[in-house]
Amino acid sequence: MRKITGAAGLAAGFLLLASVEVMAHGDVTPHPVDTTGLPPLGKTWVDSNPYRGNAKAIAIGSVGYYHNCAACHGLNAEAGGMAPDLLQIAKDCVTETSAEEKASCFKDSDDYFKGVVLEGHKNSEGRVTMPSYSSVFTQEAVWAIKAYLDKRTADEAKTN
Ligand code: HEC
Repeated sequence: MRKITGAAGLAAGFLLLASVEVMAHGDVTPHPVDTTGLPPLGKTWVDSNPYRGNAKAIAIGSVGYYHNCAACHGLNAEAGGMAPDLLQIAKDCVTETSAEEKASCFKDSDDYFKGVVLEGHKNSEGRVTMPSYSSVFTQEAVWAIKAYLDKRTADEAKTN
C-alpha cells in the first residue's frame, strides 16, 4: 500500500513539474501579427521605424509581443533572465537630447532589432537560442513590436 502511494505521489509530482515547465516557457511558435489599420509599408524595408510613437502600432505591437516574445523576454518586456532585456536596445536613444543624434540612435537600434528578429540567433554550439521570424512577420509586424518596445523603454526611463 505504501509503495502504491509513493508511486502515485511521484507521478503527481512529475505532472506538476511538467506543467510548471510548460508555463515557464509558454508557446514559442511564431504567430503572425494582425496589423490591420496601420499604414501599409510594402515589401521594401524602410530605413527606420515609421510607427514610432504611433498609438495604434504600439497597441498592436504589444499584442504581437505578448504572443511571440513574452515567453522568453518577459511579460511587459521585463526580462526575467532567460533572454536579454529588450528595454536596453534603445535605452540611450530615449534620453538623447540632440534630435539628430536621437534619430540616428533609434535608426541603429531599428537595424539591429530587425536583423535579430528576422534571422534569429544561434549560440556558439549552433543551437537556436532565439527563433527566426522571417517566415511569419511582415515589415509592419516587426515595426509595430519595435514601437511597443520603444514606448516601454521611454516609460521606464521616465520612472527611473
Ligand atoms: C525561445 C525564446 C525566445 C523567443 C520566443 C524570442 N527570443 Fe529574442 N532572444 C532569445 C535569446 C536566448 C536571445 C539571446 C540570443 C543569443 O545571444 O544567443 C535573444 C535575443 C534577442 C535580441 C537581441 C538582444 C540583445 O540584447 O542583443 C532581440 C532584439 C530579440 N531577441 C527580440 C525578440 C523579439 C522581438 C521576439 C518576439 C518576436 C523574440 N526575441 C522572441 C530568446 C527568445
